[in-house]
Amino acid sequence: MGVAMRRETYAIMPEVARRYGDVVTLPVPGRNAPPMLLVSHPDHIEHILVKHHQRYVKGESYEELMDGQPLPLAFLEGEEWKRVRRPLNPHFSGHALERVAPKLIAGVTARVDAWAEYVGTAEWIDLEHELGTVVMDGLMRAVFGVTMATDELNSYIRSARDYSRYAANRAMMHDLPAFLPRPFQRRGQAGLAAVHTDLERYIEQRRADGPSAEPDLLDAMLEISAGECPHLQHAKLLSEVSGMIFAGFETTTEATAWTLALLLRHPSALARALEEVDALDGAPLEYASVERLSYLKACFDEGQRIQSAMANVRTAIEDDEIGGYFVPKGTRVLFSPYGIHRDARFWNEPDRFDPTRFLTDKINKSAYLPFNLGPRKCIGFRIANIEGVAALAAILQRYTFELRAGWEPQHRMRIITSMVDGLPVRIRNR
Ligand code: HEM
Repeated sequence: MGVAMRRETYAIMPEVARRYGDVVTLPVPGRNAPPMLLVSHPDHIEHILVKHHQRYVKGESYEELMDGQPLPLAFLEGEEWKRVRRPLNPHFSGHALERVAPKLIAGVTARVDAWAEYVGTAEWIDLEHELGTVVMDGLMRAVFGVTMATDELNSYIRSARDYSRYAANRAMMHDLPAFLPRPFQRRGQAGLAAVHTDLERYIEQRRADGPSAEPDLLDAMLEISAGECPHLQHAKLLSEVSGMIFAGFETTTEATAWTLALLLRHPSALARALEEVDALDGAPLEYASVERLSYLKACFDEGQRIQSAMANVRTAIEDDEIGGYFVPKGTRVLFSPYGIHRDARFWNEPDRFDPTRFLTDKINKSAYLPFNLGPRKCIGFRIANIEGVAALAAILQRYTFELRAGWEPQHRMRIITSMVDGLPVRIRNR
């Protein structure tokens, strides 16, 4: 990503909240710029995302961000959002997960097995990067029933990353004049075209084969897009399918990378995680056994608490009141998951990596925001959880790691929080 900012940037919003309170009007340059409010109490987050979510939209001109392509689920609003989300929901339920988890776990373990080629080499391997392959293979098998060959998977991931980098830069430059060139545009657009070409092949295959015996997510998407004119139908379907991949790929990769990094930096937590994984006696992972890894799941939760997004935003579409403050229509309301995840009013010793808090403490659910809350909560959170925990278990079953001296996880600001310098390790067999 072009712009890399470190932890200090993440600390700005919590610092403003600490000084000025839970509801703060932020100065916005420009006479006609809409007002901006920073809210920093879980009750306020619950107000905008759950109780009064209908008073807010995600806002922003997504059409511009999407280069004029149809918007995928994450960017839809109102009735159109409901029309798409409703039929997709069942494909992300606990019941559906049971069906797709074996494919997901097969993809994850196959790619973790392939790390054997790095064992014993002296070079530093960037596990943040390598985890991308693990996660993408699991996702493609689980979400679309597609198993990709290694070369195909690698070039698909390169294309997806090229596009993500361009899209993120584009989003960050959103308010800047259109004549300014957006970095990585040509490569980014070529990346998206390549991703679409692969997805088109899978879609055509499915059309030729007809719906699966037990309809899956791809069948559901095909059905939602039916009824449009053929051109729009095709464009919408591609946008929805690739939108799902973009929503799930880097998010799950970074959450898993952060958790692994934090475990490697905390020997007692790592020892407990190994103990839990070793109790499986080296048996191949299955959905039921991964579901029982409660300590590792707590590590994944805690990893995401520490990782955190820097900020999220909603726009008021009617006048409102938050915590006794008037919120005029058009106000952009900001909140910082990073700040709320580190607020000592809601977390004991918030700076400490302590997975057991998710096993023993009473967690204020509105103070824990990796997937957001309310009706727009991440549709894929169950897949993310099972994939993250399965990947960690498969890794800990097989390998030990030497971290590069002096390295520690530091926040690198991107749309999805990553790590400065990746996750450099040397790999050994256990
Ligand atoms: C650890 C991994 C993940 C994290 C941290 C994450 C986080 C989020 C968050 C915070 C949102 C809400 C954004 C907002 O309201 O502003 C969201 C929405 C969404 N996520 Fe995830 N996500 C993850 C994995 C996944 C996976 C695996 C999938 C799909 C396979 C997925 C698909 C989506 C979709 C489609 C939406 C839009 C839902 C809607 O607007 O109705 N995500 N995600």
